[in-house]
Amino acid sequence: MLTSNFDKIAIIGCGNMGAAIAERLSADKQLLFYDRHPEKIKLLVDKGFGKSTNSLKEAVTQSNLVILAIKPQNLEQSAAAIQESLTPSHTLVSLLTSITLKQLNTYFPNCQIVRMMPNIPLLCGEGMIGLCSDENDNSTYKEHLTSLFAPLGKILWLPENKMDAFTALAGSGPAFVFAITEAMIEAGIALGFPAKDAQSITYQMIRGSINLLEKTGKHPAELKWQVTSPGGTTIAGLKTFEEHAVRSGIINTFVSTHLKGLALKTT
Ligand SMILES: NC(=O)c1ccc[n+]([C@@H]2O[C@H](COP(=O)([O-])OP(=O)(O)OC[C@H]3O[C@@H](n4cnc5c(N)ncnc54)[C@H](OP(=O)(O)O)[C@@H]3O)[C@@H](O)[C@H]2O)c1
Repeated sequence: MLTSNFDKIAIIGCGNMGAAIAERLSADKQLLFYDRHPEKIKLLVDKGFGKSTNSLKEAVTQSNLVILAIKPQNLEQSAAAIQESLTPSHTLVSLLTSITLKQLNTYFPNCQIVRMMPNIPLLCGEGMIGLCSDENDNSTYKEHLTSLFAPLGKILWLPENKMDAFTALAGSGPAFVFAITEAMIEAGIALGFPAKDAQSITYQMIRGSINLLEKTGKHPAELKWQVTSPGGTTIAGLKTFEEHAVRSGIINTFVSTHLKGLALKTT
């Protein structure tokens, strides 16, 4: 029996992602934490995010939604203990990169299973979160999960065959954005600004550019041409941009990230 009443949420694994999700969901949900390192649970309990539990069994039996935020290599050893306490009214949300719905169904045959791929901007409620499940036709169930996870950022339901590509684009993407941002700040320093000023100018320039893209709905190329005067400074910079193959470098960065993800699945 499917339940949409996700009022008691267990987070198994309170590391980077488990803790970040706990912080975002804690405002209006009852959270229960379990990690094999009690000090990680204590950190979350001390911040008032939820309650501690002493075992996997306790966390799972007291919840109706279980967020599994352990590393894929720890699944094998923990699966039996989790499975023991799961019932058909439980939903298990797995963060385990590259562990498929089919594999998860083998470990946890008697509950609903959802895969989640979050990214790090969820820490400020601006994450891009991919979800997929076998419950393709159950729109009410999906709507409830979408609203449950809305405090993490933007939610997108995907077919499972897009999860690896999503992981490369949205999961790894922030690392590339941070690297590009760092390079732009250093360009500002090279142009004579103190580091702090270079940083705040760069942040606002990026924020403003993204907001303009979203607000106008214009294609990036159209806005690029709008700021490119004939024979001017910007086109001189864009010429250098193309000479250094920055555009294809960015595309290849994402493609090789995706390929590495696929290769890891087969090893
Ligand atoms: N970090 C990211 O940016 C990111 C992004 C997308 C998806 N993910 C996925 O999110 C999951 C969690 O990643 P993370 O970076 O948060 O990992 P993490 O910081 O290592 O946290 C996992 C925690 O779970 C504990 N643990 C492992 N097995 C356990 C068990 N059987 N019972 C209780 N606790 C257990 C770990 O303890 P030990 O340290 O002793 O193992 C650790 O404290 C991974 O599957 C990862 O693929 C992460």
